[in-house]
Amino acid sequence: MLKLILENALKKEELEQYKDRVVTINKAINEKTLPGNDYLGWAKYPLTYDKQEAEQIKKDAEYVRNHFDVLVVCGIGGSYLGARAAIEALNGIKSTSKPEIIFFGQTFSPNYTAQVLEYLKGKKFAINVISKSGTTTETSIAFRLVKELLEKQIGKDAARKAIFATTDKETGALLTLARKEGYQTYVLPSDIGGRYSVFSAVGLFPLACAGVDIDDFMKGAYDAMATFDNDDLHSNICYQYACSRDYFYRKAKKSCELFVTYEPQFTQIGEWLKQLFGESEGKMKKGLFPTSATFSTDLHSLGQFIQDGSPVLFETIIYVEKPAYDVLVPHDDLDLDGLNYLENKSLSFVNHQAFEGTLQAHTQEGKVPCIVLELDSMNPYNLGYLFYFFMRACAMSAYLLEINPFNQPGVEVYKRNMFHLLGKKGY
Ligand code: PA5
Repeated sequence: MLKLILENALKKEELEQYKDRVVTINKAINEKTLPGNDYLGWAKYPLTYDKQEAEQIKKDAEYVRNHFDVLVVCGIGGSYLGARAAIEALNGIKSTSKPEIIFFGQTFSPNYTAQVLEYLKGKKFAINVISKSGTTTETSIAFRLVKELLEKQIGKDAARKAIFATTDKETGALLTLARKEGYQTYVLPSDIGGRYSVFSAVGLFPLACAGVDIDDFMKGAYDAMATFDNDDLHSNICYQYACSRDYFYRKAKKSCELFVTYEPQFTQIGEWLKQLFGESEGKMKKGLFPTSATFSTDLHSLGQFIQDGSPVLFETIIYVEKPAYDVLVPHDDLDLDGLNYLENKSLSFVNHQAFEGTLQAHTQEGKVPCIVLELDSMNPYNLGYLFYFFMRACAMSAYLLEINPFNQPGVEVYKRNMFHLLGKKGY
């Protein structure tokens, strides 16, 4: 279960001022009366999602698991980050389970693209192409390349059965192609934006292919929805977190939120959070800059700045009590490294002491406010719960800032320039 610990960040009384606004905004989220209201499909999605499609996803994922060694997931931004964060958080970064999941189409990098294509040569692979618009340049180029390779390796007919497309229900280039070729399709609902889409087929199909129990994942999301659709600030930790963010931004004049984890396999959760909060709140010259770090690794790089540098940030630490695996420190007769004092101590114990020691150093000497979100363990249920917690907190937090959380007008500017330089018609 998820716990919010604010004692190293602020006094709960500081949040009292938000009580009434939370009531108003929670009602507005439910009644869809604020800007962006046509993108609130995610709020009740753990209840309303298409159960028949979920069953189809499980069946197709079983087929992929039985027939292919690799699944190439093509997508970018909201059509990529959630699935990657979830699969790494649950399976680890050195997982040997089959099929291997490779994320593709999230970059123009010629090096990465060429290496992935080379790696896939001769391998039995399937493709899940994910794009709501169907015209995102990175994804479309990557899909064109990987589809060509697949068709060359197994023929057009077999390739059709190995390509799964997740896109809009009614429109778009990808939907047109999928219909023409007869690919299996899944829906990214039109009232859910990319960064809020992890509970749709965008997340569910890759997760199911990676062997994750998607029913448990959705059950976690459902329980979070039932718990956090609650306008009582005293009992709602999701809105306490959202209001704390607003407090640090407006009252304490912080400009950065540093998301911290203590497991490399949770690093991608930080990437997902950066998009969720960055694209939702960074508008009208407002918003906290979301960034992330993995400790203790980054204590050896960013640690100095956090402890002693400009006082611009507060931390939100996601700490998971029980790891999936553990390792003991071995005895060494020579003990030249002086580590025998840790003999037979587990790495989870060492990691925990690093967490406690750092928390104390950052809050007490460094005066860096630290919010702690504690989970007992990482599993599909808890991850579904955590993702929904952040999505709901993000909506509340953006509305507190009087910002529409569900558009991203700023993202178009670089695209216009790039298309002009690339010579695309109309730019
Ligand atoms: O959150 C968003 O809306 C974006 O990050 C999109 O998900 C991303 O640009 C990919 O778009 P599409 O799914 O249309 O390819």
